[in-house]
Parts: sequence; structure tokens; C-alpha cells
Amino acid sequence: MINKQYDVSCGARAGAGAGAGAKAVYSFQHKTKKVVLCCDVKMGKVAVGAAVVCAAACAAAAMVVRRRTKGSGKWGRAEALVRELEEQCGTPIAKLRQVADAMEVEMHAGLASQAPTRLQMLITFVHNLPSGDEKGLYYALDLGGTNFRTLRVHLGGKEKGVVKLESEEVSIPPQLMTGSSQELFDFIAAQLAKFVSSEPEELHPPPGRQRELGFTFSFPVKQTSIASGNLIKWTKGFNIEDVVGQDVVGELTKALQRIGLDMRVAALVNDTVGTVARARFSDQDVIAGVILGTGTNAAYVESAHAIPKWQGLLPKSGEMVINMEWGNFSSSHLPLTEYDQALDADSLNPGEQIFEKIISGMYLGDIVRRVLLKMAEEADFFGDTVPPKLRIPFILRTPDMSKMHHDTTPDLKEVGKKLKDILEINNTSLKMRKIVVEVCEIVAARGARLSAAGVFGILKKIGRDKVKAGEKQKSVVALDGGLFEHYTKFRSSLESTIKVLLGDEAAETVSIEHFNDGSGIGAALLAASNSHYLGLQES
Ligand code: GLC
Repeated sequence: MINKQYDVSCGARAGAGAGAGAKAVYSFQHKTKKVVLCCDVKMGKVAVGAAVVCAAACAAAAMVVRRRTKGSGKWGRAEALVRELEEQCGTPIAKLRQVADAMEVEMHAGLASQAPTRLQMLITFVHNLPSGDEKGLYYALDLGGTNFRTLRVHLGGKEKGVVKLESEEVSIPPQLMTGSSQELFDFIAAQLAKFVSSEPEELHPPPGRQRELGFTFSFPVKQTSIASGNLIKWTKGFNIEDVVGQDVVGELTKALQRIGLDMRVAALVNDTVGTVARARFSDQDVIAGVILGTGTNAAYVESAHAIPKWQGLLPKSGEMVINMEWGNFSSSHLPLTEYDQALDADSLNPGEQIFEKIISGMYLGDIVRRVLLKMAEEADFFGDTVPPKLRIPFILRTPDMSKMHHDTTPDLKEVGKKLKDILEINNTSLKMRKIVVEVCEIVAARGARLSAAGVFGILKKIGRDKVKAGEKQKSVVALDGGLFEHYTKFRSSLESTIKVLLGDEAAETVSIEHFNDGSGIGAALLAASNSHYLGLQES
């Protein structure tokens, strides 16, 4: 009986040219512990290249197999699996440079083409970023992960900044993430109405003036104006079919009307765009915003001249914020493993969001779970039987992985506790726990270093990766999201890798800064700069 199949790919797409692909597949027969190796080549234009790539893939597969069977006993086999993981997840600086170059190439392609490209490079209609002068009371609604937030933001201009911020957070009932459009938007509208009803009387708008809202909707949207846009596809575990292709502002507005809440959506923004706006409010050197949270993505300020697909009038500012949707980036240079392939195949969106699936908070814990499961199955790592909980997808969340990874107790008590509480694995030895920490380290470091390569790709695209003669222009990249905020080792690996990629001189001009609440406050700021009542704002 063939229990498992593993694919080993080795950069076939880049090497073999369009249409050619090669992969070596080997199957592991559990009972006999035999390995069946075969090679599958789809010949395209560059058949010879493909054959060479296939030979390389076969060799790689054979090497993996040799290594896997080399170790003797439980520890040897477990060790071999970890070494194999480490090798496959490797991100030496040269590889990161290739990833950044590939990112830059895809950025150009996405900016040029109206047709769907891997990086969509979405036009956001945000060309006037906050100056810091914004004043007044605005609402924001932040939908994009497992939680949903409503915010009331009192802006006080340059002198006072954000005078007051009130917010409420609720988790989205899982059934709403895959239900119907009306259910989701009615839920959102009801939460918002409840929140608005707590508005102090002295803040009520004068008669005839509508409340205004910035709507942060953190999914790929093809915008048709600053306050309208159609959902391209869902990501991050959402899948509500009847919203795809619809104007999400229209859907929200209908729900607001159903509940009788008089409010105008003044801006529709992605969380990365909100982060850029929020950060610009405080620092005019901000050139990009990156989210590392449940999902991952980046937006940056592009010169309007560099967007061939933009058909509108050139904005006065000469700039346009672009939502890259970098979560969907993929390249033959990405270090992918069998665990990533399996996670992708089991996901709601196979073949999509590959960069996101190896970097972001929604997935890192599950990659670790998959590795531990393999170790349990093939190396009896947790004893004679495979702990049943290890088979449950997404049971190991990234915050728990982070807790294990940061365990500083001499006997890794926290690791033991997490394995026991979450996976019901009792009596783990220190040696086992150390290996678990190593797996967390390999998976987190790959994600952090690839994020750094992404940031470096953006800096290259806009010419901020080098110091120009006589100039020391500062560039600030604004970061937000739970993964960046709370996973310290991820964050420091990301920061140090960007420095290495930039080199000493350029590293002095680029800073990575955390802007809390970027997505919410940024949406309120963009509602302010797109208000119907500009010029009438009170302090
Ligand atoms: C996903 C979404 C993207 C969002 C990111 C971070 O990648 O597609 O729009 O910005 O998650 O929340």
C-alpha cells in the first residue's frame, strides 16, 4: 500500500521556460519502508532544459530519501526530517536577492497589465495621503481577519494628532466567514449601529450632516473609486461566494439602510493602505506599509507615471498608493516543502496566496503541526502511536507556536505545557521539546526572511535601496499586524535581514517602524481627506 507521496520540485519553471515542467515524485510505503521513485516530465518548448531539470529533481529526491533513511532509530529519523526541513526552508542571502528581484519583475508586470497578474498591483485611488492637518470625528470599520473592529476616531490636526480613539472588537462567528453576503454585512452593520449608539451627545453631528466612515476591507478589491470596489476573491479562510464580483461598499450600505443607520462610506481601503495613511499622518517619509498578521500584504507609494495601466487623469500629487496583494506572489525561487504543498492543496484556495501561506500568522502554526505529524508518523517521535490531535488542521495556532519558540525556561516548560494542553501529548522529554523549538525556528525564520526580501523588492522598485550620491533621503516602512507585533523572534529576524540586504550605508536611511492600529486609524484619516464636508471640519 502506498501511504504517502512526496513531490520534489527544483526550480523547474525558471530553468525550463514556459510550458516545460519537471518533477520527481517518490512514494513512501509505510509497511515495507520502501521508496518508489519516478520522474514525470511535461515537455514544453525547452525539452532539453526540462530533462536536465528533471534529472536534478530526481537527484534531489534520491538525496532526500537517502538522508531520510540514514538515521537509525527514533532520534536519527527525527533528526533527518528536521535537517531535511532546514535544507528545504533555507533562505541564504543570495536566494533572498533572487526573491526580491522576482518580486520587482512581477511588480512591473502588474503595473502594466489590465489582465490578472500574479501581483495584482491594485490601484487604490489614494493619491492624497494625510498631511497631518485632518480634523474631526470619523468612524472606521476594520474587517479582514478573525476579528472585526469598529472605531471612533477624533482627529485634532498637526498639533493634537489623534485626540481620542475608542474601539470595540468582536470575533467573527466562523459560520459567517463562509455563509452569505447578507448575513455577514447585517452582522457588521448591527455591531456598528450598537457602537454608534454609544456616541456621547456632545459629539453628535449637527443636523443635516451625515456621519462618515472609512471601511477597511482587507481582501483583494478592484476599486472603481475611493469609495467603491468589487471583491476579486476571498483570502484567509473567508469564502462567501455571493460577494465575489460585488461592490462591497454597496453591500455594506444596503445593510446600513436595512438597520436604519444613516452613515456614508467615504473611503474603502485595504489594511496596508490604511497603514500607509496612518503612518504618513505622523511621518512624511513613509513610503510603504506592510501587514504581517493573519494574512500578509504590502502597499506603497508609486509615481503615477510608473503605472502604465492607470487610465485616469494624472493626480496632482503625482503619486498613487498601490495595493500589491503580495500574498499571491510566487516564484520558483521560493523555498517550498512538501508540507507547504499539502497545506496549499488542503486549503480553500489551492494554488493561490503561496507567499502568504509560508509567511503569515494564519499558516505558520499549521506548517509546524504538519512537520510534527510527519515526525510522529515516520519516526515515532511522540511514541508508538500518532497523537490524534496532531491530525486536526489549524489546531496549533501561530501564537502558541510563538510561545513555544520564545520559551526561555531551562527545561522548556512552556513547550511541554503547550504540547500537553493543545495536542494532548504528555511526558515529553527535554530532547523532544528542543526539537520542537527547532522546527518553530526553521519555519518562522523562513517567513521572516522572505518578508524582508519582499520589503527589499519594494525598495528596489522605487530606487530606495541605495544611497544616491550626496543624498540621504530617509525611507520609512510602516509595519503592523499581530505576527509582527507579538512574534518577537520573527520581527527581529525580519529587521536584521533587511539590514543585511541593504548593506551598511543604505540601511542607515531605511527604517522599519511599527504603527499600531494602522488599518483602523488610517481608514478614519482617509474618510477625513475624502469627506463631503471638507473645509467645514471642526477641531
Ligand atoms: C490578505 C488579503 C490582503 C490583506 C492581507 C493582510 O493577503 O488578501 O488584502 O491586506 O491579507 O490582512
